[in-house]
Formats: sequence, structure tokens, C-alpha cells
Amino acid sequence: MKLPELKIGKLVAKVPIIQGGMAIRLSTARLAAAVANEGGIGLIAASGMPFEELRYEIRLARKLSPRGIIGINVMVAAREFKGIVTTAIEEGIDLVVAGAGFSRDMFAWGKASGTPIVPIVSSAKLAKISQSLGASAVVVEGAEAGGHLGTNRSSRLIVPEVRAAVDIPVIGAGGVLYGKDVAEMLRLGASGVQMGSRFAASVES
Ligand SMILES: Cc1cc2nc3c(=O)[nH]c(=O)nc-3n(C[C@H](O)[C@H](O)[C@H](O)COP(=O)(O)O)c2cc1C
Repeated sequence: MKLPELKIGKLVAKVPIIQGGMAIRLSTARLAAAVANEGGIGLIAASGMPFEELRYEIRLARKLSPRGIIGINVMVAAREFKGIVTTAIEEGIDLVVAGAGFSRDMFAWGKASGTPIVPIVSSAKLAKISQSLGASAVVVEGAEAGGHLGTNRSSRLIVPEVRAAVDIPVIGAGGVLYGKDVAEMLRLGASGVQMGSRFAASVES
């Protein structure tokens, strides 16, 4: 199977895989850069990071992957949510993925700089609201995903529902470990996948 490119706004990833943000420093610059260098999208998990550390990690990721696509993941429920998003935007981050809650305000912060904002959703309803607020894509997390979840339904059920509800790219997350899982998500209508646990088991994490 030939993997399609993943387009989010003006960004084009050769490999349709986003390395999901994993807080408490499981995914920092080294992991994000390694994924970005392979053609995927690497995310620095920014929740709970002091702003100076976040700036350092973004600059380090850029140094390790000058041409790769690097974003941040931030939990909406985290302390200093706004400060983290605006600091990353100031540093020229490529995209912001936000989960564990929902913020209407973040779309305006991204709009001014043209930074794609990608919320993590668990229903077609929230995906639709996200699209109407200006989301560049949505990540769909179902019950199989690691992290803080908003549903006990499978991603495999929610992805097709979200696909039917919105026109923006849909990224399937949860229990994607092998190539066959990527292929399954794409068949269900996803434009790409977000993987967490698999990347936690890596030297760079
Ligand atoms: C240890 C761990 C930490 C995570 N931390 C975050 C986080 O800080 N913010 C977030 O939005 N998602 C977080 N996630 C979810 C991942 O970004 C990703 O969506 C999820 O792991 C996908 O499911 P998988 O683990 O089955 O691949 C975390 C997942 C794991 C396993």
C-alpha cells in the first residue's frame, strides 16, 4: 500500500503519521525531531513545561530537524494553557495540537499567525464545532488511546462518523501500532494517524 501524504493547512508530511504528544517529558525535541526527519510530524508535549524550557525544546527540535514538521501538544486543562500556545507560536511552531479539554479561544490565537490549530475530539459533534471555529484538522481519539480520554467508544467507530461530518483532515488515534493498523485507519476514512504508545517504546522518548 502506498501511503498518502498528510496535508494540514499548508504543511505536507510525506508520511501520514503524527507522533502524539506525551506529557511528563516522554515526547520532547529528540523524539519529535526523529519522527519529523523520517517525514512524519513530531510533537513536543508542552503541558506543564516552563516557557523557557519550551523555547529551548522547540529550538533544539529545529536544530535536529531543520526541514521537518514540528508541533506542540498541549492539554487545554493544563496550567498556563494560553501562555504555552502563544509561546510556541512566537517560536514559529508549525502546528498546535490540543487535547484534554476544548478551547474556543485557541483558534483566534492561531489565526493571527496562520498557525494550524488541531483539536483532539472524540465525537462528530465536536469535530463539526472545531471545523466551524477554524480547525485545520482534527485528531480523533477513541477508547484505545493512551492518555486522558473523553469517550469509551472505539476510534474505529468514531473515525467514520467524523469523516462524514467534516471536510478537514481526520487523524485517527488509538491502538495504532503496526502498518496494518495504519492501513485500517486510512480505510476507515482517516487522512493519517496519531500514535503515542508505540513511540513511548523508543530510544528517543
Ligand atoms: C504516556 C502517554 C502520555 C500522553 N500524554 C498526552 C498529553 O500530554 N496530551 C495529549 O493530548 N495526549 C497525550 N497522550 C495521548 C497521545 O498523544 C496519543 O493520542 C495516544 O497515545 C494514541 O493512542 P496509542 O497510545 O494507542 O497510540 C498520551 C499518551 C500516552 C501513552
